[in-house]
This record gives sequence, structure tokens and C-alpha cells, in this order.
Amino acid sequence: MPSYTIALLDGDGIGPEIMAEAVKILRLAESRSDLQLELTHGAFGAGAWFSHGDAFPRETRDLCDRADAILKGPIGLDHEQTGKIPVDMRPERGALLPLRRRFDTFANFRPVRLAGGLTHFSPLKPEVIAGGIDIMMIRELVGGLYFGAKESGRNAAGKRYVKESLDYDEEQIGRIARVAFETARGRKKILHNIHKSNVLKSSVLWNEVLGEVGREFPEVEVRHILVDAAATYLCLNPRQFDVMVMENMFGDILSDQAGGILGSLGLMPSACLGPEKAYYEPSHGSAPDIAGKNVANPYSMIGSVAMLLEMSLGLKDEAGHVWKAMRSVFDRGYATPDLAGPGSDSQTISTRSFGDLVAEHYAAAPAAAD
Ligand code: IPM
Ligand code: MG
Repeated sequence: MPSYTIALLDGDGIGPEIMAEAVKILRLAESRSDLQLELTHGAFGAGAWFSHGDAFPRETRDLCDRADAILKGPIGLDHEQTGKIPVDMRPERGALLPLRRRFDTFANFRPVRLAGGLTHFSPLKPEVIAGGIDIMMIRELVGGLYFGAKESGRNAAGKRYVKESLDYDEEQIGRIARVAFETARGRKKILHNIHKSNVLKSSVLWNEVLGEVGREFPEVEVRHILVDAAATYLCLNPRQFDVMVMENMFGDILSDQAGGILGSLGLMPSACLGPEKAYYEPSHGSAPDIAGKNVANPYSMIGSVAMLLEMSLGLKDEAGHVWKAMRSVFDRGYATPDLAGPGSDSQTISTRSFGDLVAEHYAAAPAAAD
């Protein structure tokens, strides 16, 4: 029986409670498949800084090194707590970026999906999203402004200044472009390339390299769109997009906007793939204001489990069943409080109940051997 080690990094705020629901689904996947999962929790994030003096402690790094895949919850505490941590040790700079760098997880997949029956969760008009939304945003995750050289100080005129550089080389662009073309080839064969080449030289090189890689994929049509225009069209006509590829910072911003058009960042799971290892995480923050209240939406965390099952364990059918189970819960009229807007007909349920209902539907799905 194949055995896999999964590192579970609960993170901060709502992290532990949504992770608990994700673990239910992982355990179910294990019992339904011919495999064994060793699930080990590791400290990570602001809490880890307070307990270990390091937001990404050595034990957790070792655990991640040993693991076949990593499932990570959101990180970060409120402004006051965060203020107690030295700037460079805060969970984003002290844990998340080092995690991305350690495993070179350059390919960040952020599915932006709202099934036809769930369009009422979106703030967009029904006619704009009739039939639902189904976009795969692909964000380069280990380059650009996030990882470029930074300096700050006082300039010759005595003024405080800061300088951050947006670095990419052709290899970094080429590998994410290839991932994007491969993904587009497996879907509708249309790739939207998001850039800002009217201003940024980095986008000029990006487009050049993307064009070169594109020659290997003649069946994929590339549509170039400026990042600011893409932001507009995501609202006006999101259904024109299928696969979108972009550099790190553009992806950070447009993927949050995508959460907005779905109705909640709670509907945004993600996969971060490197050459050897992948980690999976919700795209949203740790929502410390609602932590421990059993109201957070575990969809992104469970969706991240579905992506892990498919992309790291090769269990595509099981992943499909998990997605379907989550849809069924919504189809039955249930929603978590973040989704049920004022005047909504949805019956709001807790984090735990949502997880239990998803598990119930998933358990009822036909098993592989059936
Ligand atoms: C994301 C998050 C992170 C990012 C933060 C927490 C550093 O917003 O994954 O989108 O900016 O990449
Ligand atoms: Mg973000």
C-alpha cells in the first residue's frame, strides 16, 4: 500500500479550525483509496514565532523536507500582535516566502470557479455570469517584486527612500509559460497573457519569452491583455477568460479580485507547485477577528485538499468527488456566513457542519473500484 507523508501547517487565526475540516476529508480519501497517509502537524506562522521564536521553525522545515506534500493554513495575527514581531520575522517574510523559496514553488494555480447553480453568491449581475465562472489563474510565485533586491535608507539629499526590483530571467518566465500553455492545452486552448508591456520592461521580456514557448503549442491561442484592462474585464465579462498567466504581483492582486467576483475569498483554494514538491493553501488570510467562532468557511482549505489529492497523490477521481461534494452542500441551500449576503435564502451553517456535510456527500460518492 503506498504511503505518503503530508505536513499540516495549521497557521494562525481560523487556520486550525479549517484545517480540522480538511483533515476529515484527507482521512476519508485515505479510507476510500489504496493508500496510507501519515499526517503530521508543524508550527508555522505568527503563533510559531511566539512559541518557537521563529515563524518557520527548524522542526517544521525538516518536516516539510520529509513530506511528500504540504497542506498549509492561512497565517498572520491582528495588527497589535503582529506589531510585537520584528518586521523581517513576521509570518509573511519569515515563513511564507521562505517556504515558497525553499521548495521553489513557482507555479501557483488559483482556480476561480463558481458552478452554474451558485452564481447567487457573486456580487455580479446574473446575466454577466450566466452559466457560472471557471477560470484557472496561474501566477508565477517565486520571482518579481516579492523576491527582488530591496534597499532603503537615506539618499544623498537626506530623504528616506526605498528601492525594490522586479527581476525575472528568461528561464523563470519560460517555465511558468510552459505550465500555462500545458494547462490551456488541456482546457479550452485559449491563454490570456496578462502583462504591462506599455510601461514595464519586465513585461516586454515576459511577452517575448512567452511567444517563444508558444511556438511549441500552436494549438493554443494567446490573447494578450494589459493587467489594468484585465481587472476591468474580470468584472465586466469574466466568462471570456479560461486560463490566465501572470507574474507574481499581478497574480496576487487579480486573484483577490477573482475572490471578489465569486463572492468571497473563502472560495479560493490554491496549489503551489515546484519541481519536486508542492504545497497547497487557501488564498485568503487568517481572519483573526472570527477565529475560534466556528463560522469560517472551510471551502478553500477543503478545495486545497482536492488539489493535493489530484496533483500530488494522483487521485483525480477522488478530487472530483470532493469538489462535487462541496457543490452538493451549496446546492442543498447551505452556506457559510461569509457567503450568505443580506436577504439570502441560504441557511447558514458553521465551519464544522460544512465540513461534516461535505464529508457525508463525499463518503457517498462511488469508490474507485465500484
Ligand atoms: C497570497 C497572499 C500572500 C502573497 C501574502 C500573505 C504574503 O496574499 O498568497 O496571495 O502576497 O502572496
Ligand atoms: Mg494575496
